[in-house]
Amino acid sequence: MKQKAFIFDLDGVIVDTAKYHYVAWKKIANRLGIDFTHEHNELLKGVSRGRSLDIILGLGQVEASQAEKDAWLAEKNDDYMNSVANMAADEILDGVMPVLEWLKANNQGIALGSASKNARPILERVGIIHYFDVIVDGNDVANAKPDPEVFVRAAQLLGKPAEDSIVFEDSIAGIQAANIAHMTSVGIGDANTLHEAKHNFNSFAEINIHFLETLVNS
Ligand code: BG6
Ligand code: MG
Repeated sequence: MKQKAFIFDLDGVIVDTAKYHYVAWKKIANRLGIDFTHEHNELLKGVSRGRSLDIILGLGQVEASQAEKDAWLAEKNDDYMNSVANMAADEILDGVMPVLEWLKANNQGIALGSASKNARPILERVGIIHYFDVIVDGNDVANAKPDPEVFVRAAQLLGKPAEDSIVFEDSIAGIQAANIAHMTSVGIGDANTLHEAKHNFNSFAEINIHFLETLVNS
């Protein structure tokens, strides 16, 4: 069997952390008098922490100094880390484990390509960090998705060219990053939202071994 590079986003693909990001951001937004709904939260998927704060402040047309922003960013991350500290393996999304197991058993390259600076502690909390040959996260890259840097780095570290790389993503920015890199993009989530993806599934539970074999052999 050929060997390919399988690159996973973290938030919304492996674990549903969007709810924890939402609660932490909402606390700050509401204190500033900014309405922050679940629809607004969609705008933050795949977006870096600093850019997320700018989007929220933009929603309320709130201006702030860099010192204020730094304090809110630190507060948000403290809150978020408190939430994820209680995470366990039962928060791994349906269907992810069988795919990781199959890829490992079939000697495929496995990487994480995430915007989050908290990716490593979260993978440790849910007990799957050892599946990943390579981890590239928000601490390692200068350019956020849709810039392809995070995926290009991951493929390079796995020693695979773009045409042998497959990216699983739940955000539009992430799908665009994979496409810009000329990798095979697999959207996890709403097919209308992620229509730019080469393949689409509502969740990993819909991905079967036949599909994985097709990706490896194509
Ligand atoms: C992405 C999430 O994976 O990571 C975003 O989809 C989040 O919502 C971003 O803002 C940065 O995460 P962190 O953990 O570094 O604040
Ligand atoms: Mg994501």
